[in-house]
Amino acid sequence: MTSNELIQAPFGFDELVDGWRTARQAGPVRYDEQQKLWQVLDHESVAAVLADPAAYSSDFSGLAPTQPDFETFRQGNFVGMDPPAHRKLRTLVSQAFTPRVVAGLEPRIHAVATELLDAVGDRDRFDVVDALAYPLPIIVIAELLGIPAGDRALFQEWAATLFGGDEIGASLDMADVERALDSIAPTVREMNGYILDHIRHHRRNPGEGLTSRLVRAEVDGVRLTDQEIVGFVALLLVAGHITTTALLGNAVLSLDQYPDEAALLRAEPGRLPDVIEEVLRWLPPFPELGRRTTREVRLAGRTLPADSVVMANLASANRDPARFDHPDHFDVTRSPNPHLTFGHGIHFCFGAPLARMEARIALRLLLERFSEIAVASRREVEIQNPAVIVSVRRLPLEVRRS
Ligand code: HEM
Repeated sequence: MTSNELIQAPFGFDELVDGWRTARQAGPVRYDEQQKLWQVLDHESVAAVLADPAAYSSDFSGLAPTQPDFETFRQGNFVGMDPPAHRKLRTLVSQAFTPRVVAGLEPRIHAVATELLDAVGDRDRFDVVDALAYPLPIIVIAELLGIPAGDRALFQEWAATLFGGDEIGASLDMADVERALDSIAPTVREMNGYILDHIRHHRRNPGEGLTSRLVRAEVDGVRLTDQEIVGFVALLLVAGHITTTALLGNAVLSLDQYPDEAALLRAEPGRLPDVIEEVLRWLPPFPELGRRTTREVRLAGRTLPADSVVMANLASANRDPARFDHPDHFDVTRSPNPHLTFGHGIHFCFGAPLARMEARIALRLLLERFSEIAVASRREVEIQNPAVIVSVRRLPLEVRRS
């Protein structure tokens, strides 16, 4: 471990980190009277919740508002499903989204990231979210799906409407949720229509891209319906875009905050994969995952009634002193690093290898291109609403080339 005595997260995340610590110190599992839900905070209990889909369901469809434009989304959105429906869809999609398909993206990701950094030109000040962290994952997903380059801007626009605001996910109040969903419904409708056309095109003109593979995927004579594919594509956008933006921004921010760790990485670039794991542990983009109890359950000595909402707090679990030495140190030499940032169990992140690859490529390029990288002005750093995602929205950098 390096001599890193700082125990806080960077800038605006301090309060959040304090909140996770204080909550966990009050007990591993506790009922939040105000929000009317159970907070699960220690590593062992969070892993236990995520490993038991029979007791802790991911399906909130009974509680969710019925906005017709989101119905299609729901059909292929297997992150919100339980077995056996989850297994059927995940297996089908796995046929199309293979490790080989992901590995094959490497040269394109490298080319796109290079192109984006080239566009920075010789400026010595730029916003790394605007320039790289935001556009890279959306372009990668669009390419993965075989979306024509000319339509990329559409995808970027939709993503900005869907994830740009602070509304979605910021409140559990049903009226707020309905209002937030209504505001984005026209975008969802337009996107569904576009993706449906795209799928139909690939049915008529099969190729080798992910969309054609999704159309062809078959298990026991069962294929994905068009609606399920639309839902999966939407899931890719939700799960694969802003999370990767968050990871990239959080990595740059953390390395700025911890210069000893950044120096170690510059001296030993082979450490990059471990650095990425520590950033993932330190600032998990999705800080918590929701589940619903299907029956009365016992957890860490508490009894949770059936039909309770349970929030499995990944961020708190990632700093559980029972699992991690010096959990509040950002330590890029940490090994092993059993963080729960990609979830655990049957819903373990499907895109983890892709996210890790994008982060490796983008961060390596940044380090190669710039001999010095510093946050230009801390006052200008803007974070997203952390109730939605732990991520920066603006991160102005000052750079030097050697
Ligand atoms: C699931 C995090 C990137 C696709 C999940 C889950 C987490 C997560 C925590 C589990 C959700 C649950 O159990 O309820 C992240 C983080 C990412 C990232 C932190 C980036 C740093 C990606 C990417 C893709 C992706 C790049 C695809 C392109 C998915 C899918 C699921 C999922 C499809 C659902 C898996 C299932 O339900 O079986 N992700 N993700 N994710 N992720 Fe990711």
